[in-house]
Amino acid sequence: MRFAHDALPEIAEHELDTTETFLGARVALPFFISCMTGGSEGGFKANRLLATAAQELRIPVGLGSIRVLLENPALFPHFHVKPLAPDVPVLANISAVQVRDGDIPTLMSLVQRLEVQAIVVHLNAGQELFQPEGDRDFRGLKQAIARLCEQSPLPVIVKETGFGIVPSLVRELLRAGAAYVDLAGAGGTNWITVESYRLPREARAAAAEFADWGVPTAVLLAACRTGRDRVLASGGVRSGMDAAKAVAMGAALAGMALPAIRAVTAGGAEGVVKTFRRLEKTLRTVMLLTGSRTTADLRRGTVWLEPALAASVESFERAEGLRPG
Ligand SMILES: Cc1cc2nc3c(=O)[nH]c(=O)nc-3n(C[C@H](O)[C@H](O)[C@H](O)COP(=O)(O)O)c2cc1C
Repeated sequence: MRFAHDALPEIAEHELDTTETFLGARVALPFFISCMTGGSEGGFKANRLLATAAQELRIPVGLGSIRVLLENPALFPHFHVKPLAPDVPVLANISAVQVRDGDIPTLMSLVQRLEVQAIVVHLNAGQELFQPEGDRDFRGLKQAIARLCEQSPLPVIVKETGFGIVPSLVRELLRAGAAYVDLAGAGGTNWITVESYRLPREARAAAAEFADWGVPTAVLLAACRTGRDRVLASGGVRSGMDAAKAVAMGAALAGMALPAIRAVTAGGAEGVVKTFRRLEKTLRTVMLLTGSRTTADLRRGTVWLEPALAASVESFERAEGLRPG
């Protein structure tokens, strides 16, 4: 993907407006910190630091899965990070299997006590299949998500965890009532590879065959013809340029998991703030050099696809029945 450079942008740098409205809140940048961690001491600390950084940056932040919290209510203070991020959307996270198998009123009362602004349902069949103790039955998940969307007083966001959600499923999930769908496509963290690290040596060979699994985020985003304003782009977003391209392609926000956990591990909340400030600098420069005063302007056809990506998108669209064969 490349940007169309505007050699004569009729804009002053101070006029640039990078803000977005997300879940009723005004956020400073079209970026978010993807759902991560929880369940371990290190994870709890990271959640608090990520929330602190998100508040300073004025960007949304996701929490790790609250599964452990459902099993152990004493962990509540570790997940209750809203007081650290009062001005930005904080997102709770749970797996679709848990939504199917759990009790929705119990789940809803818990997330309301967490004072979060949305509940994020994650899809991770690939990862589960490589966890010795993982789920094996994925029937009835669409129905469970639709039921949650119907019953939840909070907006529901559905995300993958690094293998992507194809356009037909994006449409289905939005139609079922999801407020947003986070593509979380391939190109970044691969959870089958991650799981393989704790598998016995002989089981790793099968996992290695999935090192390249999933649909790249860029292809998914390009193939998503409608509703991109309700699509979040994540999975492999590693730089300000990646994030700017995702937004220019029409995503509501661009999200990052691994870069945020690396930054928090190395430098705490301050490290995360620094990382995102670097991304902001790139975004602002891209906006100016494409003559985009606002992120809405950036979305008005400032990117074009290199032939290799265009061919990949075209071929994917044919396979998906989005284009005549
Ligand atoms: C350390 C870590 C923990 C994660 N934990 C969760 C989780 O609890 N729930 C979830 O939906 N996704 C989780 N993810 C997946 C991310 O939200 C994201 O979808 C995936 O890592 C792809 O983004 P990336 O390429 O920027 O890492 C986790 C990712 C990382 C790196």
